Amino acid sequence: MLLNHKTAVISGAASPRGIGFAAARLFAQHGARVAILDLDAGGAQRAAAELGDGHIGLGCDVADRESCQAAARQVIEAFGQVDILVNNAGITQPVKVMDITEADWHRVVDVNMTGVLYLSQAFIPHMRQRRAGSIACMSSVSAQRGGGVFGGPHYSAAKAGVLGLAKAMARELGPDGIRVNAVTPGLIQTDITGGKLTDEMRRDILKGIPLNRLGDAADVANIYLFLASDLSAYVTGAVIDVNGGMLIH
Ligand SMILES: NC(=O)c1ccc[n+]([C@@H]2O[C@H](COP(=O)([O-])OP(=O)(O)OC[C@H]3O[C@@H](n4cnc5c(N)ncnc54)[C@H](O)[C@@H]3O)[C@@H](O)[C@H]2O)c1
Repeated sequence: MLLNHKTAVISGAASPRGIGFAAARLFAQHGARVAILDLDAGGAQRAAAELGDGHIGLGCDVADRESCQAAARQVIEAFGQVDILVNNAGITQPVKVMDITEADWHRVVDVNMTGVLYLSQAFIPHMRQRRAGSIACMSSVSAQRGGGVFGGPHYSAAKAGVLGLAKAMARELGPDGIRVNAVTPGLIQTDITGGKLTDEMRRDILKGIPLNRLGDAADVANIYLFLASDLSAYVTGAVIDVNGGMLIH
C-alpha cells in the first residue's frame, strides 16, 4: 500500500478504458482516496462509485479556470487535504499542419496545456500551505519526436509545452515541498484513438517498438503511482518515458 492516508485528484479519469481511470483504480487499491475530475460529470460520478466508498467524481473543464477553482474548493472541502494531483486530461486530433483551424488550435492547446496550468494553480496554494504535494503532468512521446501517431502538430506543441511548464513548476515549487514531474507515453490502447487504429497501422507501429507491444493504460498508471508515492521522494522535474522503447534518447 503505497498511498495509505493520501488523497489524490486525477483529471480526465472518467473514461473506463482510459489512463486516468486505470490510475484512479490503482491509487485506490494502494489506499488513496481519489477525486475524479472530468468534463463528463456523470461519467466521473460513475467512475468514482466504481472505486468504492469515500471517492468522489466531479464535473470539471480543465480548460476553464473558474471550473478548476470550483472543483478544487469542493475536493478540499470533501477530503480536507490533497496530496497528489495528476494532470491527465487531454484530447487529440489527427490533422496536418495546414488543416489546423484557429478553433482546433485553441481547443487542443487549451485542454492539453493550459488545463495543466489552471488545475495546478487551483491546488498549489493548498499544497504550499501544507508544504507537501506531488503533481504529475501528462505529456506524450509526440512532444519529443514531433508527432506520435494520432496527434497533429498542435497536439505535439501542447504536449511539448507541458514539459516546459512541468519543469518550471518543479524548479519554482521545490522549495515549498511540492514535486512536479511529467510522463511521456508512447501509443497506449485507450479510446483516445476513436477506433481509428487499423490492424495495418498497428503492425507498422510495432516494428518501431523494441518491446513489441502497444502500451496498456496500466503501464502508465504504474508510473503515475511511482510519481505520486514517496518512492519518488527525491524526483522532481523528471520526464519519464513509457513507450516500450519507441523513442530511446
Ligand atoms: N492513449 C495514448 O496513446 C496516449 C499517449 C500519450 C499521451 N496520452 C495522453 O494521456 C491522457 C489520457 O488519455 P487517454 O488515452 O486515457 O484518453 P481518453 O480519451 O480515454 O481519456 C481522456 C479523458 O479526458 C477527459 N477530458 C477531455 N477534455 C477534458 C476537459 N476539457 N476537462 C476535463 N476532462 C477532459 C475525457 O472526458 C476523458 O475521460 C491525455 O492527456 C492524452 O493526451 C495518451
